[in-house]
Amino acid sequence: MREDIERVLIDEVVIEKRLDGMAAAIERDFPPGPLVVIILLKGALVFAADLLRRVARPIGIECLNVASYHGATTSCGKVDFLDRQFPEVRGRHVLLLDDILDTGRTLHAVIERLHEEGATAVRSAVLLAKDKPRAVTVSADYVGFEIGDEFVVGYGLDYLGRYRNLPFIGVLKAAVVARVGGS
Ligand code: IMP
Ligand code: MG
Repeated sequence: MREDIERVLIDEVVIEKRLDGMAAAIERDFPPGPLVVIILLKGALVFAADLLRRVARPIGIECLNVASYHGATTSCGKVDFLDRQFPEVRGRHVLLLDDILDTGRTLHAVIERLHEEGATAVRSAVLLAKDKPRAVTVSADYVGFEIGDEFVVGYGLDYLGRYRNLPFIGVLKAAVVARVGGS
């Protein structure tokens, strides 16, 4: 797996230090009282596990399966909600966690749905945000790192289902993308 990586963009130590700061900001910003955290599967799993252990307050954890990326390295535009039931968020403060803000379509669609479902307030946190124009108007309230417009893997992020368990954020070798057929 490691041999498929061209270069490490953000190493584990740097990520962990940044998560300390993000968790402190989240604790400071949310009003006292219970908080519902919604984790977007599967990409935000690793980020969520490491971030939430740093947040010292009562939280409920819910997961949401959405499809916005179909396989390779390009977004298809449409966002589908795949779960039979949507988490109960009426009257709650919600913290939404995703791995990366790319076109913005996923975050935009989920935030809209959370408001429709009656959430009192929604804030979002992403580990990464690509420095590029978004397809829709959306921004995250907490951003771990701004990165360039390139495809990255690791720390939850995948390429065709692989590399999520790499402990750092890295860029794949072009030959790997060509070999398994990215677009
Ligand atoms: P958006 O809806 O275009 O903002 O895309 C969000 C989703 O696309 C993320 O939750 C990721 O699953 C996926 N994605 C976008 N960019 C990357 C990347 O560089 N590596 C891995 N997955 C990505
Ligand atoms: Mg994802």
